[in-house]
Amino acid sequence: GLLTGAALAGLVAAAPAYAQCDSGEMVIKFSHVVAPQGNPKGEAATKLAQRINDEMNGVACMEVYPNSQLYNDDKVLEAMQLGDVQMAAPSLSKFEKYTKKLRIFDLPFLFKDIEAVDRFQMSDKGQELLGSMKSKGLLGLAYWHNGMKQLSANKPLIEPSDAAGLKFRIQTSDVLEAQFKALGANPQKMAFSEVYGALQTGVVDGQENTWSNIYTKKFYEVQDGITHTDHGIIDYLVVVSADWWTGLKPDVRDKLKKILLEVTRESNEASAAINEDNRKKILAAGTTIRELTPTQREDWVKAVEPVWTQFEGDIGADMIAAAKAANN
Ligand code: LMR
Repeated sequence: GLLTGAALAGLVAAAPAYAQCDSGEMVIKFSHVVAPQGNPKGEAATKLAQRINDEMNGVACMEVYPNSQLYNDDKVLEAMQLGDVQMAAPSLSKFEKYTKKLRIFDLPFLFKDIEAVDRFQMSDKGQELLGSMKSKGLLGLAYWHNGMKQLSANKPLIEPSDAAGLKFRIQTSDVLEAQFKALGANPQKMAFSEVYGALQTGVVDGQENTWSNIYTKKFYEVQDGITHTDHGIIDYLVVVSADWWTGLKPDVRDKLKKILLEVTRESNEASAAINEDNRKKILAAGTTIRELTPTQREDWVKAVEPVWTQFEGDIGADMIAAAKAANN
């Protein structure tokens, strides 16, 4: 008889969302850690695969593996260097082993909104950063937006002192580590797939993430509430192995690039609305969302200000100036 969905899922635990590759097609595995729906990256990856599989049928085929089912973000870049995965889009906070230049995206309160992030990424300086890992064999093809980060814990966070002494899960970024240390908190680097469990069991007290990640991974269920801080960003670098990419036939590469950039534009335009929709769902679930007064927000800005000077040497004062200019 037919297998039930659950039995089937058990048998083929790592079955990708799009697995209709035919023999003779070049297989492009895209691995990511977020939900396939309700998250800007998850939806963009799905759309990218659909378009490649429609428009490059017989030539190339993309398989998308969401929800960390194939690799977490620590492993995926190693797998890419070994040729086991061809495309990924880890958050910009996860490239520390490969470059310190991308640290700019983790500076707290640098960008006033996602439009400013977009302007900086599209500027000459922003585009220059796509090539910052060439010596490590990795090439950035595009930036994808998620959105602005919000802050939560198992108690209300209104003043910076409320965070002192709490344990916060962070992505693998020294800048984010410094940000929480500046608040007198204890940051802990941890894979995305482990955050819900760590919050639920009290291994950590709090976290920072976008509305879409907080909703689709249910973090709000195991937190006291969410403080609307917009204190930083989670955005992504669509990354490939430079050897693999330059080894492609020029017409195949051009077509892939064209589709990727079209999907990028559409997805980036939709990202703010996706996050707003997730914010409303968190509210509708009965979660408290706390708004800061301008004075309270200024207190948070001041508390984490030293982080900028700490990392200016790695990032470059000219880069920081260009990013700040994108706010206007
Ligand atoms: C995180 O680890 O919190 C994020 O980078 C996950 C993601 O890919 O949005």
